Amino acid sequence: MKPWRPGQRRPDPTSMLRVDQAGEYGATRIYAGQLAVLSPSSPAAKLVSRMASQEQRHLARFDALMAERRVRPTVLQPIWRVAGFALGAATALMSERAAMACTDAVETEIDRHYQDQLDELGEDDPELAADIAQFREEELEHRDAARAAGSERAVGYPVMTAAIRAGCRIAISLSKRV
Ligand SMILES: [Fe+2]
Ligand SMILES: [Fe+2]
Repeated sequence: MKPWRPGQRRPDPTSMLRVDQAGEYGATRIYAGQLAVLSPSSPAAKLVSRMASQEQRHLARFDALMAERRVRPTVLQPIWRVAGFALGAATALMSERAAMACTDAVETEIDRHYQDQLDELGEDDPELAADIAQFREEELEHRDAARAAGSERAVGYPVMTAAIRAGCRIAISLSKRV
């Protein structure tokens, strides 16, 4: 961990919490979209349900921290509600592997994002850092589960994941700001 020096940006836990809550909310919406399309008895749907319940737990934790710290959610929440669901439904309509590729792409960006936050926090805000560190582990498990379920064999995997990852980066940078 690098010590903070004058002129460097100080970590901003309020903005971090806002973007993280937005991300976890988006994740629940993606999985809701996928579950609306996937056949409930399919192995893919069972995996998605398991991951979705973890996202619910992540979201609930950030909701609680936001309430405690009086942090407002991003104003973009209604957009993430629709965009997340649409992304989930669209990928699941393509194929089960495409649905997995979506998780693979999203979790790859979230892993990077959470790691960046942990680096930025350093020794600051250990409460938030502990949650981020634990959730990051679980997001990596989601990514690995998606790969094990064949994400990389989805038709158009490189293009699709690149596009979804770019979308995630845009959503992250917007949710930090507003
Ligand atoms: Fe999550
Ligand atoms: Fe996840």
